[in-house]
Amino acid sequence: MSRTPFVAGNWKMHKTIEEAEEFITGLLPLAGAVDDVQIAVCVPFTAIQAVVDSTRGSSIEVFAQNVHEADQGAYTGEVSVAMLDELEVHGIVVGHSERRQYFNETDAALRVKVAKILAAGLEPILCVGESDAQREANETEDVLRVQVTEGLADVADEDLAKVTIAYEPIWAIGTGKVASPQQAQDACAFIRSLVADRSADAAESIRVQYGGSVKPENAKELLGLPDVDGALVGGAALDPASFAGIIEGARA
Ligand code: PGA
Repeated sequence: MSRTPFVAGNWKMHKTIEEAEEFITGLLPLAGAVDDVQIAVCVPFTAIQAVVDSTRGSSIEVFAQNVHEADQGAYTGEVSVAMLDELEVHGIVVGHSERRQYFNETDAALRVKVAKILAAGLEPILCVGESDAQREANETEDVLRVQVTEGLADVADEDLAKVTIAYEPIWAIGTGKVASPQQAQDACAFIRSLVADRSADAAESIRVQYGGSVKPENAKELLGLPDVDGALVGGAALDPASFAGIIEGARA
């Protein structure tokens, strides 16, 4: 079966509301009417409302970059799924390696987050990926197995295909060092095989993105790989023309 490619730009801690509006004004004429690629921008909390409003009626979806796993409570500085749902986000990115590394996000928390995002009718993007040292030690598959199986543990088989998994080797993020097509294909195919251990149907439908130094110049080759269904893009998604170039690379 054919899977709709999914290209998401992760702004990380970039763009004030004014800068976000400027980006959307630049992107809409380039990609606002694309209907054969799912397109999302993953926006800092502070700019979500503005970007939801300015992308309304276009094909650009808005995702948050994190959420807390509790429904509410004494968690200063955090936000809940219900709070983001109220802003009409389309989905939420969870488990980015920067959050795992700097904010101690654990697989145990992620399994709760992924299930709650789905329960609210939103789409999760679950990020997974190995470090340089883990790849050197031949542990890539072990790391991916734990992150994928734990992250999806509370998702019912019939909901698995609603999750997008982003394979992001940590050594390729923000480094300009992109995974080789073989490395990206092998890891994404392995992730799909882990989903197939739960449900063959879900494995056919689930989207697996590649992330890590994706640029307009390398997007077409990476996105053309059989098990790579899209991209999660950091640095190259901060500029509308560059992001649109990557979206173009995802089109058949
Ligand atoms: P990058 O970041 O494209 O700047 O390497 C990717 C990511 O962290 O999602």
